[in-house]
Amino acid sequence: MKAALLGHGTIGVGVDRIAASLPEIDIVRVLALETDDEILGRHTFHADDILNDPEIDTVIEVMGGIHPAWEFLSRAMKAGKNVVTANKAVVAAYYRELVALSLEHHVAFRCTAAVGGGIPWLVSLEREKRGDCIRKIGGIMNGTTNFILSRMARDHMAFNDALLEAQRLGYAEKDPSADIDGDDVRRKLSISASVAYDCFVDETKIPTAGIRFVTTDDLAFGTRTHSVLKLAAFSRRTEKGVSAFVSPVFIPSEELLASVPENVNLLTLTAEHSGELSFAGQGAGRYPTAKNVVLDLLDIVSGVPAFYTDHTAAAEIDNLEECYSWYFRSTSSSLLPAEIVEETSHETAVTKKLPVPDAFRYFSLLKETDPEAFIAAIL
Ligand code: HSE
Repeated sequence: MKAALLGHGTIGVGVDRIAASLPEIDIVRVLALETDDEILGRHTFHADDILNDPEIDTVIEVMGGIHPAWEFLSRAMKAGKNVVTANKAVVAAYYRELVALSLEHHVAFRCTAAVGGGIPWLVSLEREKRGDCIRKIGGIMNGTTNFILSRMARDHMAFNDALLEAQRLGYAEKDPSADIDGDDVRRKLSISASVAYDCFVDETKIPTAGIRFVTTDDLAFGTRTHSVLKLAAFSRRTEKGVSAFVSPVFIPSEELLASVPENVNLLTLTAEHSGELSFAGQGAGRYPTAKNVVLDLLDIVSGVPAFYTDHTAAAEIDNLEECYSWYFRSTSSSLLPAEIVEETSHETAVTKKLPVPDAFRYFSLLKETDPEAFIAAIL
């Protein structure tokens, strides 16, 4: 395989170093903002040097972001090149277009590292559904937020200190907004659900709440109720389509999800024959993530060119049967209608069981007057 790297940051350097020991993969060109000894003689500032080179059969995109990644990937496929990416933002935003291009141009499109970093999650979904029906998926899909919540709970750290620590350790993205606002999890859930259920689960339709404004008082509610606060993704097949949402959630402390430490991810599928299968491990970081990119490349070399599904019909997002009690904390909690509130204390309210769309509607109402309002489901 003659491959080229688009991007030479944390993941790109990892891919280049792992591939250097594998005779099947020859990385001949590297698009990067600056050159260094490792890429001397292979470096270019111009994507055209890669996209117009007929000798290069595979493009590895590890730049991140939606543009120009989408333009580069689509041009690569139209030029007959295989594509491997670790970039969940571009895959979630252009899922249907990327799958269609790979089918039309008979090229491979793989993105195992885009969900779960080094965990073999998308490939396991693909394998599992060949002989079983996946009913439900979800779990902890973001290491940064799990790290922040773990440190806040264990060490009584303030949110900002825990975030700085996550950035120092290289877990958080440069701009941590996508991590702490839940967008990163929403993209991973969109891709995972699309693969698991053979359809297209549009990320823009997934209700999402993050942890940007979580406080130590919110965590204290967990301590009082013998539960642990996590940011989690939920999805299952429903009669009408697919349920999917991302939210902070108080999980009873004896449950497996509650015990996931530090930056670990825990991804779980539930299938008819297999029951529950969970995958835990490093959801981020240079070498775990780069390893999954390299395994995709080796899959292509050994003749596994397909994406994880060819089916991209849009699924209806149907969260009406997802009912939970909800914890709200806001200076505007008094705006919640009395008939849905079970108990209140100062700025917090715990509701009766409400479906996800209702809970998110009340959350939007609170945020109109209090942008720092916080919501969490209670399991
Ligand atoms: N920033 C992400 C996380 C890693 O913390 O899980 C890449 O998806």
